[in-house]
Amino acid sequence: MAPSLSEHAIAILHANDRGGYTVPTKGLYPYQWNWDSAFAALGFAAFDRNRAWREIETLFEGQWDDGMVPHIIFRNHDPSYFPGPDVWQSDTVPQTSGHSQPPVAATVMRWLVETGDRDDDKRAHDLFERLLAWHDWWHRYRDPDGTGLVGIVHPWESGRDNCPDWDIGMNRITVPDDLGEYHRRDTDWVDPSERPTKITYDRYLTIVKFGRECGWDHEKITRDGPFLMADPCVQFVLMRADRDLLKLAERFEHGRAMKMIREWIARDFDGAQAMWSDEARGFVAVDLRNGGYKSTAITNASMLAWYAGAGTREQRDEMADQARAIFDICQFAFPSWDPRHDSFESRRYWRGPVWNMMNWMIASGLDMNGHRDLAMRLRHDCRKLVAQSGFFEYFDPLTGEGLGGPEFTWTAAIHLALEHEFGAAAAA
Ligand code: DGY
Repeated sequence: MAPSLSEHAIAILHANDRGGYTVPTKGLYPYQWNWDSAFAALGFAAFDRNRAWREIETLFEGQWDDGMVPHIIFRNHDPSYFPGPDVWQSDTVPQTSGHSQPPVAATVMRWLVETGDRDDDKRAHDLFERLLAWHDWWHRYRDPDGTGLVGIVHPWESGRDNCPDWDIGMNRITVPDDLGEYHRRDTDWVDPSERPTKITYDRYLTIVKFGRECGWDHEKITRDGPFLMADPCVQFVLMRADRDLLKLAERFEHGRAMKMIREWIARDFDGAQAMWSDEARGFVAVDLRNGGYKSTAITNASMLAWYAGAGTREQRDEMADQARAIFDICQFAFPSWDPRHDSFESRRYWRGPVWNMMNWMIASGLDMNGHRDLAMRLRHDCRKLVAQSGFFEYFDPLTGEGLGGPEFTWTAAIHLALEHEFGAAAAA
């Protein structure tokens, strides 16, 4: 008898397990990625809570002295991926990339604690100071003026690598003559039509060059680096995670942490208002480096407003209207870029495709805000995509075709989370 989808999902988590941490998929991504691990932990929790915690504990093994948890941890050198540790030159043990990724971990940790027992409490308690230091790093280094709006210094820091959101900031980057030749590996694994273009990669590497040459001095990178934009994904994931972190601090009666976190939360909501666009009728990315230009369309990251607790009643109502209009166009929701917009490409990575872990977060937020119908549609689409096409990295919203890497960890993990009805805990 063929294995069930849940059995297949569990087999993927086992196959991608490298001993305490998972790779997102074999070949294309052969290291540990930050937010991938947070979602992997959610999937492991469906059948092995100890392994769920190991995933988060190994993620924090890569934490820098300044508190940053980097976006990739390199425990070896695997030539199937570019850019590897020799390009980043982090000068850390283990070697890592030089910036972060959306901080989902606190949300998953709170959920593990509130659905678990004393062991979960102890493991969260043991990691708490590290988790707090990471959130502090975001607020300190990515929002040095304390505005309540954090920036990202590289599109890779958003996790939404080539979304048209970044075109405003990326188009201003001049690629230096001495960037050098390089051999991309991603297109050895995936059709180039489903990946970022060559000029996009040149600009990615220009930003990495700046970071490397200043010794990954994050004050300098945020202040003077080639790219600084506000990202609805990082902002909303952090807002949500701050509230989950506060719940943990209260549970552990950590007075200093409670004070710090409450100050962040008090600023977050107002900071997020700078991302509101009357033109796009939603929360969008903002270029913080060049005159505050705003992106022009709705993305799946915009739809995290409910998850974050961002926006006024009127703004959220406008966004629910937008969501319904986009649902009507796509066979499968939620697309990573508005299909009514010129730059929409249904197959190219973050310029249109559906990502199931984004759907899980969006649906959790919609549920908490009384939009059960929209949340159910998203969860239904996640299940149908996997049943129709397999556990791919992302999917075409118009046809449901599976794209990018196959046998993908977070797609398997989210399938298990949905089967077991795991949602983010009720907002703080
Ligand atoms: C890649 O290499 O495409 C990754 O998304 C960078 O994090």
